[in-house]
Amino acid sequence: MTAIPATSTDPIPRPGSAPDMERRPDPKEVRIAPSILSADFANFAEGAGACVHGGADWLHIDVMDGHFVPNLTFGPDVVRALRPRFPNIPLDVHLMVAKPYDWIEHFAAAGADLITVHAEATPHLQRTLAAIRAVGCKAGVAGFSATPPALLQYVLDDVDLVLVMTVNPGFGGQKFLPAAGDKVGDLARLREQEGACYLISVDGGVDDKTSPHLVRDGADILVAGSFVFHAPGGPPAGIASLRRAAASAI
Ligand code: DX5
Ligand code: ZN
Repeated sequence: MTAIPATSTDPIPRPGSAPDMERRPDPKEVRIAPSILSADFANFAEGAGACVHGGADWLHIDVMDGHFVPNLTFGPDVVRALRPRFPNIPLDVHLMVAKPYDWIEHFAAAGADLITVHAEATPHLQRTLAAIRAVGCKAGVAGFSATPPALLQYVLDDVDLVLVMTVNPGFGGQKFLPAAGDKVGDLARLREQEGACYLISVDGGVDDKTSPHLVRDGADILVAGSFVFHAPGGPPAGIASLRRAAASAI
């Protein structure tokens, strides 16, 4: 894939405030990040709006390039379109692309607040994370279900968020992989031991049954696509149900 060259005319319609990145003081404060991958693409803005007005804390945007993962989704223009329409919600961009470094500037210019790259996608992980911060975004690192969390040990100072994939990336609606979920506890312990302050986000198969365990283990952010969008009552009901499930983990 060839990256689009940056231009000086790229608008940067940033919301002006960084997303709230404080660690949750207790499980009631867990953030819910609906994945718009599960929205009805024929009524995309309506689906995103139902999340934003229905209590979402962040919007999660799954960018797939058909190489790194076997599906194609959104480019920076989708972020650019969402940004002015929903100026106050943090846009959490999950890059599942083969050359994440090439896309950082474009997603930042389009209005992303957080950009998460896969550790498996680049040998230049530290450089890539530093580049995300350099454009004013929060930097996240994601790992496939089988990727050990230990590699984080060497980039702890460069990471604002760690995203644990609990399905094989590429599609919504898959079954939660419990073994991958165990990494949440490992990452929480590593955070404690090292005095690090990254947020732990979980993505894939998150619902009202899986989320209490994840929150108990240390998850700060629950990314959920199908559970939120396919909830009877739509996204507001799905978000409320996840919030109740997270609170039940106390
Ligand atoms: C998968 C994506 C997920 C996906 C989650 O590659 O990263 O964000 O949308 O969808 P559900 O919640 O349906 O598993
Ligand atoms: Zn995702």
